[in-house]
Amino acid sequence: MSVNSLIFADARAASSACAARILELLAGALESQPFATLAVSGGTTPALMFADMAKARFDWSRVHLFWVDERGVPPTDSQSNYKLTKEKFIDPAGFPSANVHRVQGELAAETAAKLYSDEIRKVFGLTGTALPRFDIVHRGMGPDAHTASLFPGEPLIEDRTHIAAAVYVEKFQQWRVTLLPGVLEGARNTLMLAAGADKAEPLRAVLREPYDPLRYPSQLATYNGSGVTWFLDKAAARLVE
Ligand code: 6PG
Repeated sequence: MSVNSLIFADARAASSACAARILELLAGALESQPFATLAVSGGTTPALMFADMAKARFDWSRVHLFWVDERGVPPTDSQSNYKLTKEKFIDPAGFPSANVHRVQGELAAETAAKLYSDEIRKVFGLTGTALPRFDIVHRGMGPDAHTASLFPGEPLIEDRTHIAAAVYVEKFQQWRVTLLPGVLEGARNTLMLAAGADKAEPLRAVLREPYDPLRYPSQLATYNGSGVTWFLDKAAARLVE
């Protein structure tokens, strides 16, 4: 594999390594910047990673936290990516609430996407049509090769103009808000965390098939991209080792 892939015995080890790398990159960024920016994903795999980050003795006061995507549910809903992050990381880490920039999933998705884009513009000090450059974007990959809330066939996969958008995910009959490709591709560091046997075939396709993000959205920012590392368990890496 020409891309940077690290393969671990299990999800636990892959998640711990991803958490450690996040801390290392944040510390590095903070040496030369007044603050660092981190966008995290949801799903189930990140729980272990969040727990490790929460246990670290890290000064979070200069880190700003965002989400790669959010489901159209209130922050108290079990499907909320914010809720997962809050329970596993924000609360136990004592992460400063002023540095938490969540997507308001309880609002109409179009409204939430607009407010979220405005919030990002404000924190990054952006003007006009500029896109943010996150220091770290942590992403997962679904069994259908989706990433963020960009599912195969989604026309927004070709939107490199906007920061975030509302997206209707047919598969789950659910509105969501997601960061868009221009932002994912602009990240200084992309950390992909994927574990489990159901990720083996999509991972093979994402790494080995020709670039076609409409079909394999996880290729966004990862295909021959620099600053990209995959954190995998053996089961996910089975077809690419
Ligand atoms: C979401 C995610 C999504 C996730 C993948 C993989 O809100 O669903 O952000 O893109 O990263 O579905 O999820 P797992 O890592 O749990 O398999």
